Amino acid sequence: AKEPVRVLVTGAAGQIGYALVPMIARGLMLGPDQPVILHMLDIPPAAEALNGVKMELIDAAFPLLKGVVATTDVVEACTGVNIAVMVGGFPRKEGMERKDVMSKNVSIYKAQASALEKHAAANCKVLVVANPANTNALILKEFAPSIPEKNITCLTRLDHNRALGQVSERLNVQVSDVKNVIIWGNHSSSQYPDVNHATVKTPSGEKPVRELVKDDAWLNGEFITTVQQRGAAIIKARKLSSALSAASSACDHIRDWVLGTPEGTWVSMGVYSDGSYNVPAGLIYSFPVTCRNGEWTIVQGLGIDAFSRKKLDATAAELSEEKALAYSCLS
Ligand code: NAI
Repeated sequence: AKEPVRVLVTGAAGQIGYALVPMIARGLMLGPDQPVILHMLDIPPAAEALNGVKMELIDAAFPLLKGVVATTDVVEACTGVNIAVMVGGFPRKEGMERKDVMSKNVSIYKAQASALEKHAAANCKVLVVANPANTNALILKEFAPSIPEKNITCLTRLDHNRALGQVSERLNVQVSDVKNVIIWGNHSSSQYPDVNHATVKTPSGEKPVRELVKDDAWLNGEFITTVQQRGAAIIKARKLSSALSAASSACDHIRDWVLGTPEGTWVSMGVYSDGSYNVPAGLIYSFPVTCRNGEWTIVQGLGIDAFSRKKLDATAAELSEEKALAYSCLS
């Protein structure tokens, strides 16, 4: 039998946490034959609720779940973890300045970076979900210098999956037949959902999405804004932000990273830029990646037209500005 994998979920008493932990315990993140031990962290005001989640995990009698640690102690939470999904953070409240929210999250991610660096298992893989996701991941990377930069990522898979969903709805095809959309850049409304390399499986072979949609105005306009604004649309409808789709996408992100992407398919991940596609190095930026043997690689050589170039640069500029704001909070 396989050794259990320890998976940390921070902010586990929150909305996404509540949707995510049962998915992990059911094997949706690491596979149906991989036992797991869940480490759940939240802050003291949420301790009682966190314990309630632990009670429900016990009550659900998940066969793969070999243990549950529910704690408000960062060190206890991080000790020995192989995977860390960082969902906890400080939400933007009405009337708060961007700088104040950034400042709160910078101090949270700085502290949690140190705890992970000191206490997580060697080669721990980190996924940051909490917003501002790219910049929180960058801060985590800066303050956990002994964790390889390749191991620190942020979630843009939800945006990627939203783009697949929009194309599938528009063409009335199965979402599983659509692939290779790309989310470039920031997990914010400046992101660029790109369908220029996306294809659909049809009875007569794989066809480019552009050829099937036959409506460039939609693809260059409403499609992009719908994906960019989807989070706000969910909040408007649910009066709460997306949770089940965020949790499911976090499972997709880790599963593909650990177990690999299918041949001929790429996914979007926020990763540390090496300067590919002339994106400034040193930002956590969403790129198309393939994964093999537990490592991601940025897909190289895709053509970037002038329309796309502007959008890649605009979201990079926003991330550089966020990075500067985050650093200004450190001093
Ligand atoms: P929520 O407010 O329901 O839950 C957040 C939890 O984090 C709360 O239980 C809170 O007590 C906890 N928390 C706060 N500070 C903490 C700390 N220092 N350590 C540990 N836990 C802490 O929020 P929800 O809806 O679960 O969303 C979580 C985050 O995910 C938000 O930042 C949200 O903006 C972000 N998000 C990101 C998405 C993405 O695609 N990257 C998609 C949807 C949400």
